[in-house]
Amino acid sequence: MPSYAVTGAARGIELEFVAQLSADPKNTMFALVRNKTTATRLESLPGKNITILEADITDPKALEIAAKEVSSATGGKLDYLINNAALAIPANPADIEKDFIDHFRVNTVGTAYCINAFLRLLQKGSVKKVITISSAGGDADVTVKTSLPGYARSKAAVNMLVAKYAARFKEEGFVFLALTPGFVNTSCAAPTPAALTAYNEFHQKILRIAPGFKGSMTP
Ligand SMILES: NC(=O)c1ccc[n+]([C@@H]2O[C@H](COP(=O)([O-])OP(=O)(O)OC[C@H]3O[C@@H](n4cnc5c(N)ncnc54)[C@H](OP(=O)(O)O)[C@@H]3O)[C@@H](O)[C@H]2O)c1
Repeated sequence: MPSYAVTGAARGIELEFVAQLSADPKNTMFALVRNKTTATRLESLPGKNITILEADITDPKALEIAAKEVSSATGGKLDYLINNAALAIPANPADIEKDFIDHFRVNTVGTAYCINAFLRLLQKGSVKKVITISSAGGDADVTVKTSLPGYARSKAAVNMLVAKYAARFKEEGFVFLALTPGFVNTSCAAPTPAALTAYNEFHQKILRIAPGFKGSMTP
């Protein structure tokens, strides 16, 4: 009965992870969301093996409570943690400090809080895998070649955070992995003209490193 805890599960890529993983009744899913009342798409998934837990990843106490609930349900262990929750808002050149801190608080510090909250359970699990969804934007080479906009600094820090955990816990048999999902359209609404222009610019930039790039994927 593999067990998974996943963050940012109310929508986007992680909702799809939960949908696909919960289709196998052998999996036990713990879906962490920031706000249960707005996680309606998650609630409507048919799997009976999904427990929805509420925790903002910047709140270590809330994460500790969520980890206790997981522990009670699994007998004190967890096999997989998928860190997906992230903040991605447009850069704010008028207030660089706020721009940095907002993104680092969620994407970097919040990811560390999640790993720390579930570490003891993962140590008792039989798989010991922690997947963190990062971004190609966090790669220096990609950044220089494409000038992609966005939250890349906090994702570069996430990549180093993951490397630090990987080094610290490799003797215990852990795999810590940061991976990029590619370019995924997670928006539910029809794009505005401004969003379409931004998308086309984005597309042109990605073509610089991936000449065969055909556009975004669905989750
Ligand atoms: N989509 C892409 O093309 C793309 C490309 C590269 C990397 N990524 C990475 O892939 C991951 C998923 O992306 P996505 O497009 O699916 O994102 P998304 O649709 O924007 O969803 C982000 C999720 O994170 C949650 N979240 C944000 N701040 C949180 C906090 N403080 N505490 C708890 N949850 C929080 C959101 O919760 P609410 O629902 O409550 O807002 C939401 O469920 C992210 O790490 C993103 O950086 C995505």
